[in-house]
Amino acid sequence: DKGNHKHFMLKEIYEQPEVVARTTAHYLDMAAGKVRLPADLPFDWANLPRISIAACGTAYLAGLTAKYWFERFARIQVDIDIASEFRYRETPMVPGGLMIVVSQSGETADTLASLRYAKENGQHVLAVVNVPTSTIARESHIVMPTLAGPEIGVASTKAFTCQLAVLASLAIAAGKARGFVNAEEEDKLVRAMMEAPRYMNEALKQEEHIAGIAKMLSKARDVLYLGRGTSYPIAMEGALKLKELSYIHAEGYAAGELKHGPIALIDETMPVIVIAPFDKVYEKTVSNMQEVAARGGQILLVTDEKGAEHAEVETVATIVMPDVPATIAPIVYSVPIQLIAYHTAVEMGTDVDQPRNLAKSVTVE
Ligand code: F6R
Repeated sequence: DKGNHKHFMLKEIYEQPEVVARTTAHYLDMAAGKVRLPADLPFDWANLPRISIAACGTAYLAGLTAKYWFERFARIQVDIDIASEFRYRETPMVPGGLMIVVSQSGETADTLASLRYAKENGQHVLAVVNVPTSTIARESHIVMPTLAGPEIGVASTKAFTCQLAVLASLAIAAGKARGFVNAEEEDKLVRAMMEAPRYMNEALKQEEHIAGIAKMLSKARDVLYLGRGTSYPIAMEGALKLKELSYIHAEGYAAGELKHGPIALIDETMPVIVIAPFDKVYEKTVSNMQEVAARGGQILLVTDEKGAEHAEVETVATIVMPDVPATIAPIVYSVPIQLIAYHTAVEMGTDVDQPRNLAKSVTVE
């Protein structure tokens, strides 16, 4: 049932504050300001040699975001891989490591094969999965469900932000257990996570503005998305959503890679969507925007008020997000990139809930 919404995808975008709140409430002890993980983890965070992550598509991009969190909070090395590459690469694994697989359906063939490879190679396998009865959930040692509820739209939205919520909680817990996050910092991070649904509601208020911007995007042949730090996976997720829904060619790049190739694409016809909260790397992204502007590129900036103030370039549009703690920025900034893809697709008249050639569950490789 789509409720009052035209498409399942839009309904699922709007469900996010609620399902992210449900998911965080499951993993965070709000009153105590602590992360609450499944009891009896079969490993000790302090002795964990490394973390590996394997997943596909949007779930892979949740994993890539988590790499930044695990490295920042827990000071632990993370290998992240696309499952279809991981499964055949025969990568050596130090026994006793942690393998995290991320999957909405829990049935993705390549992700399942990666899980099995990791198990055979002595890893503890933890699944972040939306379908608790799935094969991936059944075969994993530890299951941390996302509580997004059934996702009908083929393009993943609410499962993605719930994956981010689970992975952020896990990274904070790892940081605490490894002694890099103290009780006060944990409390602050937990509070920030609790605020995410409220900020997502704020972000949803930009829908009308974004629908207007989508009219312009629907005329583009190619769209480039740029971001740095945790905004880099979100830029890639924005590009993935746009291409799968609207069939417009889109690419997500780390902003710092611009001058190593993609800058050659930029001309007056090329929209460049920059995902850039006013964070530690904001200034660096500003210099990339200047490079785009100097070549006549059409900049569409997704930032907060401070970022808008300090952008130093002309933009064709600026989508202003609430000012959010850095840790939850990827969760909140997912909302505008989903709405951009959704409205561009609606503008193009494509089948939003069932894009051509795609399947919700990819059980064959
Ligand atoms: C993109 C999308 C796909 C899936 C990918 C993995 O919107 O939905 O990229 O994320 O096929 O699927 P799961 O998460 O079921 O393993």
